[in-house]
Amino acid sequence: MCGIVGYIGKQEAYPIIIKGLQRLEYRGYDSAGVAILDGDLKMFKKKGKVSDLEASVKGLNTSGNVGIGHTRWATHGPPNDVNAHPHYSHNQRLAIIHNGIIENYSTLKSALENLGHTFISDTDTEVLVHVIEEFQKRDGLKLEEAVRKALKRVIGAYAIVVVDKEDPNKLVAARKASPLVIGLGKDEFFIASDATPIIEYTNRVIYLQDEEIAIIHHNSLEIINIENEVQDPEIHELEMKLEALEKGGYDSFMLKEIYQQPDTIADGMRGRINVEEGWIKLGGINEFQERIKKAKRLIIVACGTSWHAGLIGEYLVEDLARLPVEVEYASEFRYRNPVINEDDVVIALSQSGETADTLAALELAKDKGALIYGIVNVVGSSIARLTHAGSYIHAGPEIGVASTKAFTGQLTLLTLLAMRIAQLRDSVDKEFLGKLMKELVNIPDKIRQVLELNEKVRYIASEIQDSPNAIYLGRGYNFPVALEGALKLKEISYIHAEGYPAAEMKHGPIALIDEKMPVVVLANNTNNYDKVVSNIQEVKARKGIVIAIVNEGDTEIKKIADYTIEIPATMDELAPFLSVIPLQLLSYHIAIMRGCNVDQPRNLAKSVTVE
Ligand code: F6R
Repeated sequence: MCGIVGYIGKQEAYPIIIKGLQRLEYRGYDSAGVAILDGDLKMFKKKGKVSDLEASVKGLNTSGNVGIGHTRWATHGPPNDVNAHPHYSHNQRLAIIHNGIIENYSTLKSALENLGHTFISDTDTEVLVHVIEEFQKRDGLKLEEAVRKALKRVIGAYAIVVVDKEDPNKLVAARKASPLVIGLGKDEFFIASDATPIIEYTNRVIYLQDEEIAIIHHNSLEIINIENEVQDPEIHELEMKLEALEKGGYDSFMLKEIYQQPDTIADGMRGRINVEEGWIKLGGINEFQERIKKAKRLIIVACGTSWHAGLIGEYLVEDLARLPVEVEYASEFRYRNPVINEDDVVIALSQSGETADTLAALELAKDKGALIYGIVNVVGSSIARLTHAGSYIHAGPEIGVASTKAFTGQLTLLTLLAMRIAQLRDSVDKEFLGKLMKELVNIPDKIRQVLELNEKVRYIASEIQDSPNAIYLGRGYNFPVALEGALKLKEISYIHAEGYPAAEMKHGPIALIDEKMPVVVLANNTNNYDKVVSNIQEVKARKGIVIAIVNEGDTEIKKIADYTIEIPATMDELAPFLSVIPLQLLSYHIAIMRGCNVDQPRNLAKSVTVE
């Protein structure tokens, strides 16, 4: 949430920062700002997109070799020019950018007000920079010392970068529970909230750890911790490619990412499954195989789309491995005093690896002695570093705010994991498992066939684009897909949509159905087919508009549904891989037809690093 960029070196800082902010815009996009040091401290801020900031700065002097920039997702105070970062200290000597939340900001603010400080914004960030200023003034401290002392007073999460007009060849950065990456160039350093703005300049990076402070000059970097002990950071080599951050000819990142799924699923399976030899290897679990085999229970924690993938994981693991599974919203789990035992395995599902609630849920489970395992996309992210073991989904950067390829990547890993646990526990018929493995390997090709139905999906989208509501129904493995389809529609088209287990419809939602209500029914799984047909009949009896996802060659549903999308048949355990694709496309087309920005839907941010 919120994007941070900093630069110090020999190049002009402003263009590097603007480009970096554009790359990070998926993290937050309600306002943006830049501060440049060049003898003086110049500040430019604007409500809106980075392009609005650029337009407002046109013709002004932006030169300087040291600078910081920020793209905001509002927490404290509405999006406007004043609340945009960077923020000045009271004496206008310091400027700060901040990602996270300072929880005790109002106490700190009152104390500062008693000392004569006044504030112009509604943000917690402005309070923090005033605290730094106060230490600097009172004790005559160097910037890094003042930052360190101030951070000791702070409760909450932060990734910050601070500049000082009186100490102009230096950046001071720090983090706690909010990521910060430092890129190492030749006589220059790049700082960012994730590696995407850095990759075009260098692939050598340091991930700042919690409560570490970096003191950065153009030719030196020192890292200390909050107790002022010098740290010895590890340098990582990034494998990400620059092309992965471009749209590659598509109109949006979301569409590109939908179309990438056959490849990203194959990447997630690469080297992990061999159908002929019958093996599944997940490097991450090797060391813990015995513990996983003997686990009494598996708990999956996640948020949003990842939580939907988790529900499918529950069905898979219980079905194949006969191991009890609970799926928890991370935000509930962390605050509800759950029972966690040492023989539990807690799995976190997260695209970003930075979701604050998921991270906190894992910390809780780790403290209670459970084995914690991460299924994560972003390499080197906080969740990936916290877990005992884990598997990356290898989907590449997901830039569209609405998750698509990460969802199917998570399903890939969950399917492999469920099959592997089933092997370890000898809980499933070998012949059946062999068939499932073979079918999983075929999934990328079947998704390619589903993607060919794009024009048909676009046509259906044009028919229902003006509906204010929609209902999604599914049973068994397709119930979580109904939830996911509804979420995709809500978040990018702003149409109110609800997903339900198809049989639940009778217990309330059926009251909503009339001739204006589109009802998307997932009917490509075979188990429960007849029951789904009955549910469709019930909807039709109330004149609802039925859009059914069915297997190729289906005749029964075709007779009663208003629209059908015929997709290749697969085994029920894998049905979500195929049924989710038309739902992603449907919401994409509806959103485009309604003039919505699919990559940057209102009020959302890609990486939810605040709770
Ligand atoms: C929806 C979406 C969100 C995320 C959720 C968790 O399209 O993207 O619901 O799934 O914020 O994020 P991660 O997976 O990064 O933990």
